[in-house]
Amino acid sequence: MSRLLDEIEPLKQAALAELSMAPDLAALEQARVNYLGAHGKFTALLKQLSTLPKEEKPAAGKAINTAKAELDAALAQRRSALELTASLPKEPTDFTLPGRRRELGKLHPLTQVTEDIVRSFRKIGFVVADGPEAEDDYHCFDALNTPADHPARDTQDTFYLDERAGGKHAPGAVAAQPDRAAHLLRTHTSSVQIRVMEKQSPPVRIIVPGRVYRRDNADATHNPTFHQVEGLYVDRRVTVGDLKGTVEFVFKELMGSKTRIRFRPHYFSYTEPSFEIDFSSALTRKMGKEWLEIAGCGMVHPQVFENVGYDPEVWTGWAFGFGIERIAMIRYGINDIRLFYENDLRFLRQF
Ligand code: DAH
Repeated sequence: MSRLLDEIEPLKQAALAELSMAPDLAALEQARVNYLGAHGKFTALLKQLSTLPKEEKPAAGKAINTAKAELDAALAQRRSALELTASLPKEPTDFTLPGRRRELGKLHPLTQVTEDIVRSFRKIGFVVADGPEAEDDYHCFDALNTPADHPARDTQDTFYLDERAGGKHAPGAVAAQPDRAAHLLRTHTSSVQIRVMEKQSPPVRIIVPGRVYRRDNADATHNPTFHQVEGLYVDRRVTVGDLKGTVEFVFKELMGSKTRIRFRPHYFSYTEPSFEIDFSSALTRKMGKEWLEIAGCGMVHPQVFENVGYDPEVWTGWAFGFGIERIAMIRYGINDIRLFYENDLRFLRQF
């Protein structure tokens, strides 16, 4: 037996002891370098292998390789044990501490009010319809019997899209070709009345919550974007009484059972007769007013039915529209519309 073969076992035992008792990863690395590194003691044995007589090489080589495999395994085992310890918390866990809860978000007050409105209308058979915010002037105005010279189309109040090739965003820019429809950010959700009636035959019972745009400067009661709910009901023999009953039902749900409503004659080009709706409740009295104007409405104008291919001799209907911000402001006693859009958590957390 060569001297080399005798050295393997004691060196292996020493290495195993050091590896398996290394107190931390740094000490383990040091032990690895000491024995298995390029200049380590065990590596040195391997290097001596070549100096042995030929007939001793196989047995010695085998013994060294077996020992090395044992050392590699011991190294890997100790490393994973130490890594696990290093990843555990340094302090003992106190299971009696209160849990940490993830803070729950909330729906924006405008979303809450919109959902309440939708819920009320669903109870009486209305479904939600939707339409594009970038609309053409036909659906926003012409089809609603609002002629080209009507003030509602004024470029001062309306965001027209500049569609000239490579055009700059000039205010009030008009369509590239005069015979093509101009596009604009819709000024009201009434355009969706037309879109729905074009696609669907009567009866129709829809509400349309959505965003609308006007060139208003922001102040306490105006914002260039705000939200509306449109309603449309078309069937045979629909009356103003149906309109009044529906509006009364929904506003009582929204603003309390003591809410009263009244209709005042008004003018809208797409309804005839047309009304403005005022309502009165503890909320309006809190704002120092008995009656507050809240919505526009009326019986759908026969010309509007003609425009979508409904026979006005057969079909009757009513429509209304109101602003969601205004409802939310009255409901929660908010005095500045801009608060809705600032995303200040001190404001939003209150709802
Ligand atoms: N579109 C009107 C507005 O933006 C609101 C409105 C009035 C809608 C009368 C209607 C209606 O459907 O019949 O002020």
